Amino acid sequence: MSTKVFLNENEIPRQWYNLAADLPTPMQPPLGPDGNPVRPEMLAPVFPMNIIEQEVTTQRWVDIPEEVLDLLYRWRPTPLYRARGLEKALGTPARIYYKNEGVSPAGSHKPNTAVAQAWYNKQFGIKRITTETGAGQWGSALSFACALLGLECKVYMVRISFDQKPFRRLMMETWGGKCVASPSRETHAGREILAKHPESPGSLGIAISEAIEEAVSDKTGQTRYSLGSVLNHVLLHQTIIGLEAKKQLEKFGEKKVDVVIGCAGGGSNFAGLAFPFVADKIAGAKMDVIACEPASCPKMSRGQFAYDFGDVAGTTPLLPMHTLGHTFVPPPIHAGGLRYHGMAPLVSQAIVEGLIQPRAIHQIECYKSALLFAKTEGFISAPETSHAIAATIQEANKAREEGKEKVIIFNWSGHGLMDLLGYDKFFRGELEDYELPEHLMQESLAAIRDLPKPKVCRTGKW
Ligand SMILES: Cc1ncc(COP(=O)(O)O)c(C=O)c1O
Repeated sequence: MSTKVFLNENEIPRQWYNLAADLPTPMQPPLGPDGNPVRPEMLAPVFPMNIIEQEVTTQRWVDIPEEVLDLLYRWRPTPLYRARGLEKALGTPARIYYKNEGVSPAGSHKPNTAVAQAWYNKQFGIKRITTETGAGQWGSALSFACALLGLECKVYMVRISFDQKPFRRLMMETWGGKCVASPSRETHAGREILAKHPESPGSLGIAISEAIEEAVSDKTGQTRYSLGSVLNHVLLHQTIIGLEAKKQLEKFGEKKVDVVIGCAGGGSNFAGLAFPFVADKIAGAKMDVIACEPASCPKMSRGQFAYDFGDVAGTTPLLPMHTLGHTFVPPPIHAGGLRYHGMAPLVSQAIVEGLIQPRAIHQIECYKSALLFAKTEGFISAPETSHAIAATIQEANKAREEGKEKVIIFNWSGHGLMDLLGYDKFFRGELEDYELPEHLMQESLAAIRDLPKPKVCRTGKW
């Protein structure tokens, strides 16, 4: 009875999987300010063309360049664990597995796309990358990747996390990245927010506006912007997680999976694990695929499927996604990486199809779940990851009540060793559950009322 399964380096997947090729209803295109589909060349000031090509491809399999694999080998393949301790504590007949993405140098799944994006930027002759970060995981992942490739990295970090997580900033600086709190005085977008809300806790939407503004205003043309989630190419790079996991489940002797779970901020770690399984579901396999979000930022379970901007200033193309409205500033809960108003278009379309079910969970249940996990499995989870653990425990308890031997797999997206102040607040009883009031949601949704509407296309099969 194994507790964990490793893969050899030569067993690493050599191609990424693109769900866009298999979705039964086609993806709707991003739209420009005039309401017409965005042409790839319109994105050229923001992203290098080789990444734009990946963003729009509908090819099912995309080769991972050898040099990117060489970078990934530093920590991949990652181990797949059987959560024996947790199973025992829950008295469940379910077999629970988790993919440990916390073993990467930055401590989460984020470096999977960071090294790929930094590599493609370098290939294109880019010298400097700007980005945003919520909890600091993405900013540290990109700083790490830029260090490996000799690129400069500038990170706008959401103010609330900048204040709560000084160690993440120090990690970025250790890898040579430059990190500023957002909203900042360094950009027009930041100054505008600060003039209206001097105490703004910031949001990913604001930080994205700042990072894009800085990239596109570099007159030398040597700076580009990089996004750590939401976009198709980011989700594509993360599918290495699910592809490895499938090989590992086979080595554990599993023939089928009943439940696949991930937490979802912009959707990248969830999609990374889930999409290769969603492919099986499209082909006829029966399984539940659950994307977990905080009840305080419930874009999938309560928001609208609408065209919306990815950032507060409205500089990105309009994307068809589940959203709370781009002006939404989420309450400062501790899972900084889940405080984003929109969900990846690929995940959103799969939700519309019924292939994926969203689930909103309150933070106290998440912390309790993370504590049980720490006491039974040992690993201390990132607050984002704790949402996936909470849903896993819910499903394992359900399996016990139903007396069913289910196979559950979830993505352990990152460790929480830099997030212990959140744990401290939980221990002191300072954390509260917060259900987003309907009127606040309706207020921010009112801001997108006049934007074009995507078609709601579903085959009705799921
Ligand atoms: C550990 C961890 N898990 C999950 C997330 C959520 O992001 P995504 O939905 O892109 O995976 C983050 C974001 O910062 C994170 O740091």
